[in-house]
Amino acid sequence: MLRTHCCGELRAEHSGQKVTLAGWVHRRRDHGGLIFLDLRDREGLVQVTVNPAISAAAHRAADAVRNEWVLQVEGAVARRPSGTENAALGTGEIEVLAEGVRVLGESKTPPFYINEDAPVEEALRLRYRYLDLRRQRLQGNLALRHRVVKFIRDFLDARGFLEVETPVLIKSTPEGARDYLVPSRVHPGHFYALPQSPQQLKQLLMVAGFDRYFQIARCFRDEDLRADRSPEFTQLDLEMSFVEEEDILGLTEELFTSLVKLVTPQFKVDSPFPRLSYAEALARYGNDKPDLRFGLELADVSAAVAGAQFTVFRRALADGGVVKGLAVPGPNPSRRELDELVELAKGWGAQGLVWIALGPAGSLEALTADAVRSAAGRHLSLDEVRSVARALKAGPGDLLLLVADQAKAANEVLSRLRAELGRRRGLADPQRLAFAFVTDFPLFEWNQEAGRWDSAHHPFTAPHPDDLARVESDPGRVRARSYDVICNGYELGSGSIRIHRPELQRQVFRVLGYDDAQIKARFGHLLEAFEYGAPPHGGIAPGIDRLVMLLAGEENIREVMAFPKNQAAVDVMLDAPSPVDDQQLRELHLRLELPAAVAPGPGS
Ligand code: AMO
Repeated sequence: MLRTHCCGELRAEHSGQKVTLAGWVHRRRDHGGLIFLDLRDREGLVQVTVNPAISAAAHRAADAVRNEWVLQVEGAVARRPSGTENAALGTGEIEVLAEGVRVLGESKTPPFYINEDAPVEEALRLRYRYLDLRRQRLQGNLALRHRVVKFIRDFLDARGFLEVETPVLIKSTPEGARDYLVPSRVHPGHFYALPQSPQQLKQLLMVAGFDRYFQIARCFRDEDLRADRSPEFTQLDLEMSFVEEEDILGLTEELFTSLVKLVTPQFKVDSPFPRLSYAEALARYGNDKPDLRFGLELADVSAAVAGAQFTVFRRALADGGVVKGLAVPGPNPSRRELDELVELAKGWGAQGLVWIALGPAGSLEALTADAVRSAAGRHLSLDEVRSVARALKAGPGDLLLLVADQAKAANEVLSRLRAELGRRRGLADPQRLAFAFVTDFPLFEWNQEAGRWDSAHHPFTAPHPDDLARVESDPGRVRARSYDVICNGYELGSGSIRIHRPELQRQVFRVLGYDDAQIKARFGHLLEAFEYGAPPHGGIAPGIDRLVMLLAGEENIREVMAFPKNQAAVDVMLDAPSPVDDQQLRELHLRLELPAAVAPGPGS
């Protein structure tokens, strides 16, 4: 090794020892005679003091170095003079008195400061990701990710799970996104699909008798990207045979609670994890992955305003919609903030947002018309305002926010409003991880645009045993044996008990609109496998990126991925995707037909 110690590991007990260190110049300060170098490696920083009286050659070398140069430093560890210790630094009690300084690598001036946590434009960070990764925050995030994955492996190993790798060049396995395709050279016109998840393969491993499987699995989905979505991401994919819902949920809860206890004990976790049915989640929070760290629950106030003359409400109710809302405890926001909330709601698709600010009073009954402030106030009687307030469990001093629309649209707007208000008012404790299970999803969802049924989870999910008779006759009323684990407003993982009987699987495919030929071509392998003794089985797949993001206190999964793609699915460092040359296209039997707006690359 080019070193005897790591920079960050040195402590007072090393005083007097000769050490050799290697690392990056984090910061250089020239105090006339003395040069101070903060030398950095993965373990941390140490102050190197270069004194010409100790080594003139070392001082000459140190004079030339700049930030981010790579050095080898020889010297003696010494306690810092009293009064110059730095309590904020692990190595703050000592310094290394340089006897030799050797340059191992020079550095151009980096495009952004590595030694400051100042915000840098993401495009620049991703372009120079290897420099960005030198920064403490990302070093910490990737180290945390390692510890999380290591914990998961040990936890599942101790419970008899086998880690099995499944292939990346496979046939399409639907999870609701577009596939990434890979053309075959040796089979002209044929394509592999990259797995959206190893779903079918893990089920086939159950048919193969593996009983308990897991994999830290890379998945690929060509879908619209968001802060919690990347085109390639990692799942903890797991599957078990001879289990029911409670077995998977119990294992998942134990995994997460013991993971947090060991790896990130600074977080509080509520245990047992609360359970919400899908319907309850929608009714109370407007979506199926609510942040349960704060209340601000929604309520349907349709009954309270059924008799109101207000056209906005009347029209929505007459069209089969709802009037739904939430109450925000005082103090009432300014008019400007209210206008902002209205604009936000409109941006999320609301036709409008009705606000009613209740002034102070001893009780709702004592509330006077003068104390009610509302742009829609003159359309509602004081009694109607009181009924709405009661339905929202609000009192004097609170703000009532109402949306009148179809239930789905109202839920969408109100759940986003709830999240926004939670954020603005700091209602969510950042030290808390509010895990919960959401259950009782429907098996199918009607896709209005395409005019067909889609799987709410994926087509391999088993229907509720009491609903088997109506799978084909009344798909909308079939409940699924599926579940999600959610945390702090994110869907962390989904899973289900699977279908293991071929006839039932065929029925589900038929509801989804596949004819017999399509079923055979796309899923024949799975149906055939089910003819050879398939065990009842089920599983779950929590997203590793989302999990680590929450544990790292980050708001974007790119912050916990080493080399993420940007919001447009581009790797700006490697420049991928990029055009390929003609020869490669010919070998793949491909010809490009690009829309006029796309500049032809070298391969076209
Ligand atoms: P699902 O499609 O719900 O289920 O995915 C499971 C979990 O994977 C994570 N995830 C993502 N993370 C980052 N970027 C993405 N684009 C992305 N898409 C999904 C989420 C999500 O909860 N095969 C089933 C699981 C099963 O039934 O066992 C599946 O993949 O955290």
